[in-house]
Amino acid sequence: MSYKDVYQGWQKDPDAFWLEAAQAIDWDTAPNKALSDENAPLYEWFKDTKVNTCWNAVDRHVENGRGDQVAIIHDSPVTGSKKWITFVELRNRVSSLAGALRAKGVEKGDRVIIYMPMIPEALEAMLACSRLGAIHSVVFGGFASNELAVRIDDAKPKCIIAASCGIEPGRVVHYKPLLDEAIDLAHHKPAFNVIFQRENEVAELKEGRDYNWHGFQYGTDPADCVPVEGDHPAYILYTSGTTGQPKGVIRPTAGHLVALNWTMKNLYNVDPGDVFWAASDVGWVVGHSYICYGPLIHGNTTIVFEGKPIGTPDAGTFWRVISEHKVKSFFTAPTAFRAVKREDPKGEFVKKYDLSCLKQVYLAGERADPDTIEWAQQQLNVPIIDHWWQTETGWAIAANPLGIEELPIKLGSPSLPMPGYDVQILDEGGHPVKNGELGAIAIKLPLPPGTLPTLWNAEDRYRKSYLNTFPGYYETGDAGMKDEDGYLYVMARTDDVINVAGHRLSTGGMEEVLASHPDVAECAVIGVSDDLKGQLPVGFLCLNAGSNRPHEDVVKEVVKLVREKIGPVAAFKLAVVVDRLPKTRSGKILRGTMVSIADGKEFKLPATIDDPAILDEIKGALKTIGYAKG
Ligand code: COA
Ligand code: AMP
Repeated sequence: MSYKDVYQGWQKDPDAFWLEAAQAIDWDTAPNKALSDENAPLYEWFKDTKVNTCWNAVDRHVENGRGDQVAIIHDSPVTGSKKWITFVELRNRVSSLAGALRAKGVEKGDRVIIYMPMIPEALEAMLACSRLGAIHSVVFGGFASNELAVRIDDAKPKCIIAASCGIEPGRVVHYKPLLDEAIDLAHHKPAFNVIFQRENEVAELKEGRDYNWHGFQYGTDPADCVPVEGDHPAYILYTSGTTGQPKGVIRPTAGHLVALNWTMKNLYNVDPGDVFWAASDVGWVVGHSYICYGPLIHGNTTIVFEGKPIGTPDAGTFWRVISEHKVKSFFTAPTAFRAVKREDPKGEFVKKYDLSCLKQVYLAGERADPDTIEWAQQQLNVPIIDHWWQTETGWAIAANPLGIEELPIKLGSPSLPMPGYDVQILDEGGHPVKNGELGAIAIKLPLPPGTLPTLWNAEDRYRKSYLNTFPGYYETGDAGMKDEDGYLYVMARTDDVINVAGHRLSTGGMEEVLASHPDVAECAVIGVSDDLKGQLPVGFLCLNAGSNRPHEDVVKEVVKLVREKIGPVAAFKLAVVVDRLPKTRSGKILRGTMVSIADGKEFKLPATIDDPAILDEIKGALKTIGYAKG
């Protein structure tokens, strides 16, 4: 079957399409129908079912004779260790952990926050939650205590599972003190914490509140899988929106299982038993879908990689891991390839390894620039597939589905919509635009299985952020166009979200932090383009009239403040003091114009601008910090 046949098959009968895909899942109560539309425009999938995620990701493979197959490979250049865990071992470890959590009162529907680095125990914690029907929320290790506290207050977890530390090149990230501070900051207090003590740093435990990962499992009974309703949340994953308050994306259990399983063969072109590697972090959606759940549900071996594309120890690490563990499909972010390319433009490291196992490479998380794709094609000589998706969708909206058919690759495009997604480019009035014209990228409702049904505790925000602008559509927040063959081009965000090294961040959230500095009267944060990280945040500060502090001191303080409040991952290092910000006559800050100035792009002087002379001041300010390309 061709891509076209498959896509048209879905269009003709979506319910039949997804019911067929659902046959690959082990159900406790199998579905009779796929879509529930009684609450449109809120939709749900496989609502009338009972199923367990952990059973499908772990136990069933043991039952079906894959028990001795390696499920997880931990490859950790930062600690110099490697470890292999089979499906039988994984089942035993996860059921024991789940049993201990249950003995402390964790049950179906309870939330559990997981704050862990790239170690197999992070996946085990996720799977132990899904075994019990508890709803996990993984928080990325690069976020500071304050961000963790915001998530604790929103998710209200019964317990938090953390590691004693993480390892970044050159420094130890002290997870436990960060966790303690977050709990102090949060209004909601979890009943207890479980701490996985790493050899690199043993954390201090608070008697009666913190339990040792191993110790607290002693003497408890392992837990069986608890079947849950198809629409039961498997997890909540917080992602950046326009403000400092992150959005809690809900992942529904059954749709998640069906959709991810479908993608493993059709999109990523792997069969059960093959090794699949996504070099991301469990704190991001890519880590949820393609380090943990997707590969395990499909019976693949997954790799938990604790390292960086460069410097751990060199720009050949990716190739070493691929060759050593026989990776068939590899998934990474364009920024990672840019980092490798910068250090090893001629691919000297590539030549050192036998990469004959590698059949295809996937890029996502940010726009994949043609130069990077071409470089990777030349080095690796396999298809380099750009695909586009978001935390909200959990799997690809547009891609080149190699397991069905290799579509012609067009550089700069993530190719065509996947079954389940009817993607349209709309003008401001919500009407489809012509091919080749830019517009807002929207998806006709309903979204397919596995995508978010709503936001945790925030249905109004869900409607406002995604459904209200274009009735009948889901607003992706991305802008772009389609060409005459229907290929999509995703060009920019339409909101205050920026993408720094494949990490999704809110400039609005950073502005809230800058505004909290006592000397700052007004501020703006924009994302300027960066050759390595795609985008970098730059802050503009207007100081209070009475402030006579040296500008460089205030700049240093706000940089420190963003690191403390949001975390190192914000990569906020550039700020500059200006007298005024460019605004419209009605007082709206012209952030888009500032971005154009920084990036040296042509722009139309906004008709409503209050005082055009300010733009020269902005350009001058950017020059002083080396960021005016024009
Ligand atoms: N825990 C704690 N801190 C973290 C962290 C984590 N899990 N991940 C990143 N950080 C810190 C880094 O140490 C760095 O801190 P610093 O300011 O003290 O140097 C800061 O956050 C910024 O990190 P990053 O943006 O990753 O920059 P980098 O210079 O360390 O590395 C790259 C650059 C390109 C090599 C790196 O960004 C990379 O590998 N990107 C790929 C991202 C990716 O796979 N994203 C997944 C989406 S699909
Ligand atoms: P996240 O939710 O962190 O996965 O970030 C999702 C956002 O990253 C999308 O809305 C896009 O803005 C951007 N993005 C992800 N993948 C791509 C891609 N292949 N091409 C262009 N932008 C992308």
